Amino acid sequence: MAVGGGFAVDGAGNTYGGRITPAAVITCIVAASGGLIFGYDIGISGGVTTMRPFLQKFFPSVLRKAADAKTNVYCVYDSQILTSFTSSLYIAGLVASLLASRLTAALGRKNIMVIGGTIFFVGAAINGGAENVAMLILGRILLGLGVGFTNQATPIYLSEIAPSKWRGAFNTGFQFFIGMGVVVANCLNFGVAKMSYGWRLSLGLAMVPAAIMTLGALLINDSPSSLVERGKIDRARKSLAKIRGNDSNIEDELANLVKSSEKTKAMNNEPFVTIFERQYRPHLVMAIAIPFFQQVTGINIIAFYAPVLFQSVGLGNDSSLIAAIILGLVNLGSILVSTGIVDRFGRRFLFLQGGTQMFLCLVSVACMLAIVTGVDGTKHISQGKAILVLVFMCIYAAGFGWSWGPLSWLIPSEIFPMKIRSAGQSISVAVNFATTFVLSQTFLSMLCKFKFGAFLFYAGWIAIMTVFIFFLLPETKGVPLDSMYQVWEQHWYWRRFVKNQSYNGQNI
Ligand code: BGC
Repeated sequence: MAVGGGFAVDGAGNTYGGRITPAAVITCIVAASGGLIFGYDIGISGGVTTMRPFLQKFFPSVLRKAADAKTNVYCVYDSQILTSFTSSLYIAGLVASLLASRLTAALGRKNIMVIGGTIFFVGAAINGGAENVAMLILGRILLGLGVGFTNQATPIYLSEIAPSKWRGAFNTGFQFFIGMGVVVANCLNFGVAKMSYGWRLSLGLAMVPAAIMTLGALLINDSPSSLVERGKIDRARKSLAKIRGNDSNIEDELANLVKSSEKTKAMNNEPFVTIFERQYRPHLVMAIAIPFFQQVTGINIIAFYAPVLFQSVGLGNDSSLIAAIILGLVNLGSILVSTGIVDRFGRRFLFLQGGTQMFLCLVSVACMLAIVTGVDGTKHISQGKAILVLVFMCIYAAGFGWSWGPLSWLIPSEIFPMKIRSAGQSISVAVNFATTFVLSQTFLSMLCKFKFGAFLFYAGWIAIMTVFIFFLLPETKGVPLDSMYQVWEQHWYWRRFVKNQSYNGQNI
């Protein structure tokens, strides 16, 4: 049984050359910076929610509880209202990502990035100047709308701009910027934690990454596919010439994009209906399963609450923030590993290796916590043991950084045919946000109730997703976007769903 690997295709003969041009690299770096705002936000919220002046102003009940935290180390930060501060962003993001699909069809991917960045900018300003919880939540809703748009448009943009041979590497740029945003935010939190208005700086300075990415998006051309989709053929040709280089075979690539677009238009189908057709079942399953699984690796629990978590397991306030920075740096470095090998070893290899590593680390963390804090979590953990927990978490973060982190943006952006690509990515981002919301809303109570068992819960999910990848995810490395249908046709399970599309040499 060929479970999924070893697929080196170019069935329709569409490689279009694999040359990497400086223009393509620069365009992708600029576009990938769309990940900055998402990462900054992820990194900032965890730290801000441990800042005393912030808690005193908005969530005084959490501080009162922390004062008598002697009894159970897992329960200190279990507050629904504090959690809703963090997670309100995700509900807004979910709505925005679904809207983004339609808007991109009308306005193009580039403009969606610009709009997303601008809304995020306003949200950051409101948060920095917040005087009450309502302002805080309003700011976060705007941030959510912003990242909903940018997370929908950026990964597809990257996959459409990249030469197929290097699509994986280019696409990991998005996760790299997310990781960078996390680290910058963590460092900033550390720097301002002692200031009484530190939280205002942390929240307000989100305007900087928003400005960077918005200006960057204004400077780049839209992707050729998106231009063709909107009937701007000449601009698409220019955009292709720029990113592929004048000497490459851009006319063939353009002709195929036009053909795909015409067929799509002739069908006049509603993408959100089409995507539920039986022939797109494998795509839809991936668009839902991949982001869901990414979240149940437990990564955000570690990212949002790393400082909180380290405090609860015995590291002091300062060292908790440092621990979060270390974790972020490890994650960042490991994304580069993925950039280096994702187009050589393939997506499946990274998923399977990373998943196994993450599983082992979480089981180890759970065992350690069970042993040193006691089954009911009443014993305090020593500094040395807390550092060991940190080491395991770093190995876990590295595993995530080269597997589920970047690949969960890459896979949904590359598996869909043009006519439902935007809808597919929207669904994927919405599932990502919905799952993040539910998990962040429940994690602190879960940690409080299940204690070290919470980590076993995520380890269990990682085991399931690794088996899922092994059996059900076909290898997509190097396959041009418009030949992608072949990976499903040749897959031992999914082939029964897809119509044989090889006859017209192209997937629409
Ligand atoms: C995930 C986020 C996560 C981040 C961590 C992203 O790919 O979607 O939920 O917080 O990686 O770096």
